[in-house]
Amino acid sequence: MENTLGVKVPPLSVPDRLLLGPGPSNSHPLVLQALANQPVGHLDPFYIDLMAEVQVLLRNIWQTNNRLTLPMSGTGSAAMEATIANIVEPGDIFLVGIKGYFGSRLADMASRYKAEVKTISKSWGDAFTLLELEEALIKYKPAVLALVHAETSTGVCQPIEGVGELCRKYNCLLILDTVTSLGSVPLHLDKWKVDLAYSCSQKGLSCPPGLGPFTMNERAEDKLNRREGKVPNWYLDVSLLNKYWGSDRVYHHTAPVNMNFGIRESLRLIVEEGLENSWKRHQDNAELLWSGLENLGIEMHVKKEYRLPTLTTVKIPEGINGKTFTLHLLNEFGVEIGGGLGELAGKVWRIGLMGYNSKKENVEKILNLFDTELSKFKA
Ligand SMILES: Cc1ncc(COP(=O)(O)O)c(C=O)c1O
Repeated sequence: MENTLGVKVPPLSVPDRLLLGPGPSNSHPLVLQALANQPVGHLDPFYIDLMAEVQVLLRNIWQTNNRLTLPMSGTGSAAMEATIANIVEPGDIFLVGIKGYFGSRLADMASRYKAEVKTISKSWGDAFTLLELEEALIKYKPAVLALVHAETSTGVCQPIEGVGELCRKYNCLLILDTVTSLGSVPLHLDKWKVDLAYSCSQKGLSCPPGLGPFTMNERAEDKLNRREGKVPNWYLDVSLLNKYWGSDRVYHHTAPVNMNFGIRESLRLIVEEGLENSWKRHQDNAELLWSGLENLGIEMHVKKEYRLPTLTTVKIPEGINGKTFTLHLLNEFGVEIGGGLGELAGKVWRIGLMGYNSKKENVEKILNLFDTELSKFKA
């Protein structure tokens, strides 16, 4: 096809990829089918019912009864920003536990909303203890503590049990990033007393990127209701969004209806499988990967007690150029794994087993590739 400016654009042809990196993961075929429907109007009674179903399903997957639970139109970063935009008031002390790339993003965002940001840090590959968190809560007296449950840059799962109780003891709200854990790693928002959380559609939910699930409880709503000024971000203002997602059904923005078809299907599939079965499948397949890599003489970056089942950081063996190897896997086999991010750039590969892609056959495939291909790159 030649357009009026003489630019030749061939019809779209997307290469086949097995996405075993930090995300996106491959989408479930039934999710792709759901996306391929014709859109309906965003106030169509069918769609209004579908919105309610998405909310019920999200509450289930997060194990929460929070009324304000909805998918933000945008990726995980939009949902991250929604937690901050709605909760932070200028001058609030906002404490972030940084142990990887995404903790720093939280700190950056909170500073843009004029919070007084305080940080505590751990090395990239470690997690905070309850004692360390309690000491920081005593020292900084924050209004909000933000933690990343599943740090995709390091492959660490931050233990959360007990953190919510501490936050209540020291009168602070707890924000939890569950971008790389929702649907695939045990999460009990209400039991763990998490006040706000967010996630994405493209990892454990087996959907393409485009939606950012968001939830907040009554404690968080209370702070939102007591704000002096307006939420400084119109698009992500939950009080406005709730006029559309709540019973009023007032237009806010044109919802990405097809993305919501997709996420409904992906959440339905997790409930059909059973949430605990999904968590177990991810754990079992990750353990298969870890023992297979160890058998090949390859070391993991994170000690086992903190390892995430969805994302494994693997030490790049001495003398190997990590990037050349990942390009080889992509170009020759259509398999994507990730390189290191930030401090871990050039030091680790990141292997993801998320949602639809957490399967024994994918573990075997990547282990086989490490077995047959890696030796070709040794100096
Ligand atoms: C832990 C974590 N938080 C936040 C994000 C941001 O999500 P998105 O890239 O969907 O905007 C990511 C993305 O990978 C992530 O891994």
